[in-house]
Amino acid sequence: MVEQDWWQKSTVYQVYPKSFKDTNGSGTGDIKGLTMKLDYLHDLGINIVWLQPVYISPQNDNGYDVADYCRINPEFGTMEDFDELMNELDKRGMVLMLDIVVNHSSTEHAWFKQARQSKVSPYRDYYIWKDPAADGGVPNNWQSKFGGSAWQYDELTGQYFLTLFDKTQADLNWENEQVRKEVVDLLRFWAEKGVKGFRMDVINLISKDQSFPEDDGSVSPGDGRRFYTDGPRVHEFIREMYDQVFGPYHLVTVGEMSSTTLAHCVRYSNPEENELSMTFNFHHLKVDYLNGQKWELMPYDFEELKRLLSEWQIGMNKGGGWNALFFNNHDQPRALSRFTNDTIFRSESAKLLATTLHGLQGTPYVYQGEEIGMPNPVWNDINELRDIESKNMYRILQEQGKKPDEALDIIRERSRDNSRTPMQWDTTVNAGFTSGTPWIKVDERYPEINVQSQLEDIDSIYNHYKKLIALRKELPIFTEGMYERLDECHPQVYAYARINEQETLIVMSNFSDQDVSFSIPDEFWNERMDSKVSELLIGNTMHTPELAQDTPLSPYASYMWIIR
Ligand code: GLC
Repeated sequence: MVEQDWWQKSTVYQVYPKSFKDTNGSGTGDIKGLTMKLDYLHDLGINIVWLQPVYISPQNDNGYDVADYCRINPEFGTMEDFDELMNELDKRGMVLMLDIVVNHSSTEHAWFKQARQSKVSPYRDYYIWKDPAADGGVPNNWQSKFGGSAWQYDELTGQYFLTLFDKTQADLNWENEQVRKEVVDLLRFWAEKGVKGFRMDVINLISKDQSFPEDDGSVSPGDGRRFYTDGPRVHEFIREMYDQVFGPYHLVTVGEMSSTTLAHCVRYSNPEENELSMTFNFHHLKVDYLNGQKWELMPYDFEELKRLLSEWQIGMNKGGGWNALFFNNHDQPRALSRFTNDTIFRSESAKLLATTLHGLQGTPYVYQGEEIGMPNPVWNDINELRDIESKNMYRILQEQGKKPDEALDIIRERSRDNSRTPMQWDTTVNAGFTSGTPWIKVDERYPEINVQSQLEDIDSIYNHYKKLIALRKELPIFTEGMYERLDECHPQVYAYARINEQETLIVMSNFSDQDVSFSIPDEFWNERMDSKVSELLIGNTMHTPELAQDTPLSPYASYMWIIR
């Protein structure tokens, strides 16, 4: 068995700085706020902190629109604050993973400002410019992921530039060697400062089909994505970053892979390829998209969720890749509200999701607030929302014929703001997030759902996470065990095993509010259980059941046993 890398045994904590902790009353979280909370994260057992963008930015997409990659946005603090954060992490044996957004820059970036001046600017070719189509319209039918055309017309020079996201996020031209050199420079800048990891934003979109074809929709949605997703030179470009920065500085890297495939993710994350340490994919978080459409609601398909998780467990293992495991992030509604019950069974549900995820092979990511079971907030009206995507879609859905109420119902479920409301620290005003006016509302349930009350409660969701994180560090089976699914299309239960030569880990979760029962298949039971003993490692009910071939499961019950 290959020696496990330290980051395979680690759990990453994702910090959305804008909503984590404000120390100066501005209403926006800051770097000092994160530093202040490091003991909290350390106590949880975290050793890698993923800090989302804190660079200079007009904040049209909350920092994913970068105007200067090597300076800190004053809203978040100063470079001294950043250095202090690094020191304090180091003291606790923790490391920082920075979010790197280089598929695009803000149109406020000096490169773009120069590029737009004239067609002969030395920076022109840093971006992707095209002449209008013959009829004067957009160069092709590619769509922005935030709605509308992906092309923006620039009056001054009479050409269009490409923006796969917001109209102020201009796609960088990775075909230009100079751009790739700039990226390597900025990565080095942060590596030299002691950053130990990078999360690479939508990194599988950087290589575009250079013929920029019209998408006839015959293969996928017809929005152009197949011409820039996992594109022709993407592996080459990533490897270049590996050779120059990731490898030499021994960094842990995770790539955010939009609409990707298993085969590509194997390649991105197999150590022999010298690209990345691991990948995020989103297939399992589209199981409630009607016909694959995010803005069309349907109840989630449980069987499909299990099928996808299993396919990626087996496929990545087989190909020698490594999964980044997650149910939540700043772009997703809270999994607790989405897949389980966030009211009467909130605590059971949050623990069930945690146990189910942390038992899988890969490196788990905890998104702020997940560890205390924060649900989607209550949205009373559209003006409470802040996200550019939600605002665009609220308008577009109405243009498509939805009534304002119907549009709001969809936004309520799908908005990225569901996970962006302030972290709930305690029962004081604004949940202890800020003494000022928060940039986005604090969910009204904070008096009940907050960190303080959970730290004091031995049975809290927080303490459940803490235990899971510790188990992973302790027991090799979490990282090396082979995955095997145990439920055959059970309508309520997801059950799987992780297997190595000496041990078997069993994870069993009832994703419903019904009392159900589950039987471990005979063959598996006879072979693995034999005369061995089992121990309950973690569960979420008052009683602590012995492992049996037939197990009754109360609503949202979830258990993890080890057989030795
Ligand atoms: C990623 C980020 C998201 C951002 C987008 C554009 O998907 O996670 O928040 O809007 O990239 O940078």
